[in-house]
Amino acid sequence: MELNLTSKTAVVTGASRGIGLATVRALIDEGVRVVGAARTITPELKETGAVPISVDLSTAAGATTLIDGALAELGGIDLLVNNAGGGDAVELTGFLDTDDAQWNGVLDLNLLAAVRVSRAALPSLIERRGAIVNVSSINSRLPAAGPVAYSAAKAALAAVGKSLAEEFGPQGVRVNTVSPGVVRTAIWEDPDGFGGKVAAAAGAEHAAFLQQIPAAFGITTGRITEPGEVAALITFLLSDVAGNITGADHVIDGGTVKTL
Ligand SMILES: NC(=O)c1ccc[n+]([C@@H]2O[C@H](COP(=O)([O-])OP(=O)(O)OC[C@H]3O[C@@H](n4cnc5c(N)ncnc54)[C@H](OP(=O)(O)O)[C@@H]3O)[C@@H](O)[C@H]2O)c1
Repeated sequence: MELNLTSKTAVVTGASRGIGLATVRALIDEGVRVVGAARTITPELKETGAVPISVDLSTAAGATTLIDGALAELGGIDLLVNNAGGGDAVELTGFLDTDDAQWNGVLDLNLLAAVRVSRAALPSLIERRGAIVNVSSINSRLPAAGPVAYSAAKAALAAVGKSLAEEFGPQGVRVNTVSPGVVRTAIWEDPDGFGGKVAAAAGAEHAAFLQQIPAAFGITTGRITEPGEVAALITFLLSDVAGNITGADHVIDGGTVKTL
């Protein structure tokens, strides 16, 4: 299948590791010139050949700094992947223990970063009849399964994607959402990350907890998703092969979500 992405330009957020890093690699393999954003510029991101930009996307200034830098570097933006998310503010607290500071922290990174980066990038995306992929989560469909603020932010992100697809579709911009289930990244594998916290709360040893995720989450395929598999879906959705796919939410979860 010819994706026809050669010589396109892309901005990928959350590019330092995990799904974002895999997406940078997949796009570069297709001949795309990529700007990759995160707070930390990791050796792995540098090795991809992407232009790294260090920004805190939980702030409004971070979004404009990123797109100003990307436009200066690339001359224009054809493709945007709003992937940065999760983050330090996601805690295992229940609703009554989730205060405004936590809500704001989660919403800033998991919803408003994509809103702000898209707003800054859209003039160029419209000019180039480009495409956006927003990375949400199956938590948007299974909100009871996760921290309330995170699930709400991801559901809102899917809604924003639908709105943008409708508003900018007539100008040639496609907008899609990708909603992963459990993916093998630092979110789960870092002992100090979300997965480590869930394991501790369950009184389980971290490695043992990771092993039993497919059974505990009801993953039909019996395994969690690899970052490269999410990157492949994102790359496909950004390509001309997906030219008539817009405003849709694409689940990649090994069959975790059982409902239609
Ligand atoms: N892994 C899963 O199971 C899973 C499931 C469903 C949805 N998702 C979603 O997939 C996306 C990627 O997650 P991942 O699993 O690849 O997570 P990850 O490995 O933790 O990577 C998160 C990325 O976002 C960046 N980031 C975090 N806070 C940031 C900030 N304030 N400003 C700029 N960049 C920031 C991180 O870099 P720095 O820390 O250096 O800034 C990193 O590059 C997220 O939106 C997440 O919600 C993941």
